[in-house]
Amino acid sequence: MKISVKVPATTANLGPGFDCLGMALPIYNTITIEETVLPGTGIEINVMADENSIDDLSLEQIPMDENSIVYKAVKLLYNSIGQSPSELKINISSQIPVARGLGSSASVIVGGLLAANKLLGDPADELALLSIATEVEGHPDNVTPAILGGLCISSQEEDGSIIYSKLDWPDDWQITICIPDYELATDISRSVLPLEVPMKDAVFNAKRMAMFVQAVHQKDKELMKIALQDRLHQPYRKKLVPGFAEVSENLKHDDSVIGCVLSGAGPAILVISTKDNLEGIKSVIKETFESLDFNVEIMTLPVEKNGATFISQDE
Ligand code: HSE
Repeated sequence: MKISVKVPATTANLGPGFDCLGMALPIYNTITIEETVLPGTGIEINVMADENSIDDLSLEQIPMDENSIVYKAVKLLYNSIGQSPSELKINISSQIPVARGLGSSASVIVGGLLAANKLLGDPADELALLSIATEVEGHPDNVTPAILGGLCISSQEEDGSIIYSKLDWPDDWQITICIPDYELATDISRSVLPLEVPMKDAVFNAKRMAMFVQAVHQKDKELMKIALQDRLHQPYRKKLVPGFAEVSENLKHDDSVIGCVLSGAGPAILVISTKDNLEGIKSVIKETFESLDFNVEIMTLPVEKNGATFISQDE
């Protein structure tokens, strides 16, 4: 039996929502799991670029052995029902660049889990899968929209369970994503964060999270401009992300721009705007990265409303 799951890219944090906000985007990895019949063949993992991908996906960064996150996720699922995985072939066809802050790891974890769960006869429900995916990923903000699609708020509680809720992103608000041609591993980007933050910064972000939810709900662009500010992670990470401070500065007088935020742990940057000046925004981003001598892929994308989807199932 062979199961394929198509999983969207995701952007996490969206400014104030460190480790809890995430949104799906229409760039996809397809994860296929096949039970092989030859005993003793173990787990084989193959990764290849999808024909519709951008040029440089940095796929060499994905481990293909037992250190692979897809393997870890699948193993946890099997273990949860008292079994061990063996004789599985896992193929990853990738459009999502690695180590750019676009949820590449979440996509393979989710794809592997959903496909393996189907192979096993669906022993785990959605919340159990979210919980395993979060355990492997370390935080729920990418894996939740990867499974559910859309814009999600999620939390992993102290007992490991996941609480989530979906929000409707206003259709008029455009997402322009800038993907620079350098990598930034999430663990490096997390290593610069302090263990504790000043109370005033925690209060600053708590206010912005409340404003974010209200701004999305009311489609209130002016409130969203304030809501997208952050003091918990971006101030510490900006030194690791050439182009972020410069793009934000160069777009700050454009009234159509609602905000510039890091995508997840970076280095991709999201520019959230109305539709009025998309070409102008793209030119500013391009010129800014050119002046810094970095190549950048720039694309305006809608929110992907669907989460992971099964695309084929052969007996
Ligand atoms: N919330 C996580 C972080 C996302 O910012 O480290 C990583 O993709």
